[in-house]
This record gives sequence, structure tokens and C-alpha cells, in this order.
Amino acid sequence: MTGDPHISASILNADFGQLGAEVRRASDGGVDSIHLDVMDGHFVDNLTMGPVVVAAVRPATDLPFHSHLMISNPLAYVERFADAGSDLVIFHVEADDDPSEVIEAIERAGKRPGIALNPGTGAEAVLPYLERVAMLLVMTVYPGWGGQPFIEGVVHKLSALAAEIRHRGIDLPIGVDGGVSLGTIGQAYAAGAEVLVTGSALYGTSGDLAPAVAGLRDAARGRTDAEWT
Ligand code: DX5
Ligand code: ZN
Repeated sequence: MTGDPHISASILNADFGQLGAEVRRASDGGVDSIHLDVMDGHFVDNLTMGPVVVAAVRPATDLPFHSHLMISNPLAYVERFADAGSDLVIFHVEADDDPSEVIEAIERAGKRPGIALNPGTGAEAVLPYLERVAMLLVMTVYPGWGGQPFIEGVVHKLSALAAEIRHRGIDLPIGVDGGVSLGTIGQAYAAGAEVLVTGSALYGTSGDLAPAVAGLRDAARGRTDAEWT
């Protein structure tokens, strides 16, 4: 069964004019990690942040930083994101570099590797790496922007991957990323995702985030497999 809902705050929809304070607001609101969406304008048609931004907001919280590298050549940047303060470095299986080499580079940098797959990528693409990563991130939107709708069609793939991980008996948390909100978090969690990346569902709220975080956790727990299937 899936562990407790782990709420990971994506800062992509936060106020970039005060990013440190926004990281602190999520941390004070009780999230479990900070999700930093890195985009290179090549792997996705958007540019967001580099290691310098990760380093700038690192002092804002002691929470784990999950750097989500939506970039074509993660090998070239793994060490810099590690040095900037990332705890988990997530790369895409669709990137240009060999996944095994990226995993080894992240481990050499003393960090934990995560692997992500896009909605259009079949589960088989990540099967060779399940025993070698610390998190599997199942994208529930096509990466590039926050605020997109959750792609329900991905939930079947999520369930299949969760079943494969249980079958293999490996301790590998699954995350979902994109369009996770009060209305979608229950089915994602019921299907096996315990790391729930939420951007606009959090940063659409001003002030204290604790009620929103608690509401997301309750919504995750509120549905059982029986209800959803
Ligand atoms: C999309 C990013 C997601 C996204 C989450 O490319 O990887 O982390 O920003 O934001 P919401 O929760 O608003 O979809
Ligand atoms: Zn992300």
C-alpha cells in the first residue's frame, strides 16, 4: 500500500519576485519537500531556473529539494544542481543522455536519483531503472508549464507501474506531477502515487498554506481503490 501522502510543493507557480519567501511559506505550511522545475527551452519550450536559483533559495528551508530537470542534457548539469543544494535530482528518461550514466553521475555527486517519464512514454521505458533510482516521477501533464489539467489517461500507467514495483518487492516511491489538486489527488494516491507534486493547487492560495496542505492530504486519503475503480 502507498505510504503517507507526501506533498511536494512545485514553486513554478510561486511569486518569483520573492521566491525565498515563497519556499518558506510552503515549508511553514507543512509540505514535505520543495519541487524545483528546471527547464532548458529545448527539452520543453520554456526556460525557468538554473543552479543559481536553487542555491539562492536553499537557505529558506531545511526541507528536501527535488530538482526536476526538464533538460535535454542532464549529464552536463547534475553536479551543479547537486552543489546548489538538491537532495533528489530527477531527470527524464526521454532526455538525450543515457539514463544509466545520469544515475551514476547523480550518485557520484552524493545525491539520490529520480527518473521521470512523460504522459506519452510507455512504462517499459523506465523498467530497466526501477531498482536503481530513489523515486519514479510519473508526469500527469506534458511538461513545460504549471496550471495544466491532470491527464486522467495516465492513471492506468501509474497503476501498472505501482503493481510492477510491488511485484518486484522494491521500496520505490512513485510521484505524480502536473494538475494535482483536490479533485485529482485522490485517484493518483489510490493508484499508488505517494509523492504528490502540487504547484498551482498550493500557490493559487495567498497567505498561510497549512489549510491547503492539510486539505490536499485529506483529499489524498479520502478515496480508496474500491471507490475509484
Ligand atoms: C510541469 C512541472 C510541474 C508543474 C506542477 O512541467 O513539472 O511540476 O509545474 O504545477 P501544477 O501543480 O500547477 O500542475
Ligand atoms: Zn515538475
